[in-house]
Amino acid sequence: MSAHISIRQLDRRDRERYFSLRLRGLETHPQAFATSAEEWRTAPPEKIDALLLLSEDNKEPILGAFYSNTEMVGSVCLIPETREAVRHKASLAALYVHPDWQQKGVGTQLVRETLRLARERHELMLIRLVVDSENTIAMRLFEKASFFLYGREPQARRVGDKYYDQSYMLCFLHDFES
Ligand SMILES: CC(C)(COP(=O)(O)OP(=O)(O)OC[C@H]1O[C@@H](n2cnc3c(N)ncnc32)[C@H](O)[C@@H]1OP(=O)(O)O)[C@@H](O)C(=O)NCCC(=O)NCCS
Repeated sequence: MSAHISIRQLDRRDRERYFSLRLRGLETHPQAFATSAEEWRTAPPEKIDALLLLSEDNKEPILGAFYSNTEMVGSVCLIPETREAVRHKASLAALYVHPDWQQKGVGTQLVRETLRLARERHELMLIRLVVDSENTIAMRLFEKASFFLYGREPQARRVGDKYYDQSYMLCFLHDFES
């Protein structure tokens, strides 16, 4: 792990770098994300700002991993549910690390930091995520971070003419007695 990587919550000042990094991820790994590169590329700046405002306001934190505090090399989102009956759950989404920075522990650090942030929210009991079933690298990373597989949806995502299965994983944040 590089000593130069720091992780912080994004705000609207990060719009350009977040936009570019996420676009790169969507273009190079279309099967990994529900949003398409085209949807992201054509999104008005206000839409990106709205996402970053949710992060800034701590409603849906987006974490960025930075090299030397300036170059964004990875990101991930924590999206808590808001309706009363499901407020104990949140989703981890949109994990991506720039190819130059992969296999250096950045992805693992982003997931760990997401779990740490989630544990600070006492109402949260579990984190869910959806991952392309062929993405064994990501699934292994999540398993090492205490997520387990609980389901698989056939042909869940379509990219061009190809369909991809999705796997569903979750992580309990606390030991609890039901
Ligand atoms: C999945 C992803 C986020 C992992 O990020 P990362 O920073 O490379 O992850 P880490 O460096 O923390 O590596 C985690 C583990 O995966 C392994 N790994 C990562 N990339 C690998 C690769 N290309 N080949 C083999 N192993 C790999 C690492 O060696 C490490 O293994 P270890 O825990 O046994 O040491 C990154 O590959 C990525 O952005 N992929 C494209 C988008 C994506 O799939 N996102 C997930 C959506 S759910």
